[in-house]
Parts: sequence; C-alpha cells; structure tokens
Amino acid sequence: MKLKIIEIPNPLLRQKSEPIEKVDEALSSLMKDMLETMYSANGVGLAAPQVGILKRVVVIDVAHDDERPAPFLMANPEIIWRSEEKEECSEGCLSVPNQFASVERSYAVKVRYLNEKNEKVELLAEGFLARAVQHELDHLDGIVFIDYVSPLKRKMMIKRLEKQRRKAAKEE
Ligand code: NI
Repeated sequence: MKLKIIEIPNPLLRQKSEPIEKVDEALSSLMKDMLETMYSANGVGLAAPQVGILKRVVVIDVAHDDERPAPFLMANPEIIWRSEEKEECSEGCLSVPNQFASVERSYAVKVRYLNEKNEKVELLAEGFLARAVQHELDHLDGIVFIDYVSPLKRKMMIKRLEKQRRKAAKEE
C-alpha cells in the first residue's frame, strides 16, 4: 500500500521518533509499504516520520534503475562507527521535493539495526549508501538535510519550494 509523503514545514518532520520493541508482522508490513512508497516516488531512502509515523524505521535502496533492487529495511538503526574521512555531495529529500544542496557527511559508517525478520544486523556502508543511511537516520531525530546549509541558502530553497507549490496548485 502506498503511503502519503509529508513535506516541510509539516511539524511531524521535526519530532524525535520512538524506538520499536520488535519487528513483528505489522511493522514488517509498514516497512514494505514504505519501500513501495519510496520506489514509486523514485527515492533512494524514506524514514517513517516522512509518512507521518514517529517510529525509528527507515528503508533505503541506492541501486541504479538498471540494477537489481537492493533494499535495506531497518528498525532502531544506530550508527556505531563513522570514518574520519568526510565527503561533500549533492543531496535531496522526498519531503523537500526538487530542492538539492551540497552536504558534508562521513564517507563511511557502520550501522546496527533490526531487519524485517527482527534479526540484529551490522552493515558497513560507504559512499552513497553511507550518505543515505546518515540522511535517513537524521529524520528519526527531526533533522532535515536543509539544516546543514547556510540560512540564506535554506531560505532560498524554501521560497523555491513554495513557488513550485503555488504553480502546481494553479495548474490543477
Ligand atoms: Ni529525506
């Protein structure tokens, strides 16, 4: 089932999400719905608060369109190690549609989480996957990527987003 993605400035995106007790059938079905929602929006990651659910759950798939899908479904994800090496790269977010900005993040991270079968897993992620992990985990603490850009740039991005919405509303 496809879920509705909320966008800034919805205050739910600014809340801290709650840990889950275990990945039961209801939760793994939420993960699958989130994955379907993310794929249909052409995203590479989605956190539960982005569909208005304040639980520590994220889904990620950074495989290219011509590659086999490689989804990660994570509950209670925790970064347990970060590389000293950082990398700056352009980023976007389904809750800030069509806006992009360069963000500096750790080049690699190790993340511990519960998968869709409630198994404890550790993943060493690098490059774009590591970036997606850090971006999605931020959502669980109410942080959106625009928080890392300068106030002026942030204001411009929000303005462009509002303009885009007005235009879309007019065309309807
Ligand atoms: Ni995002």
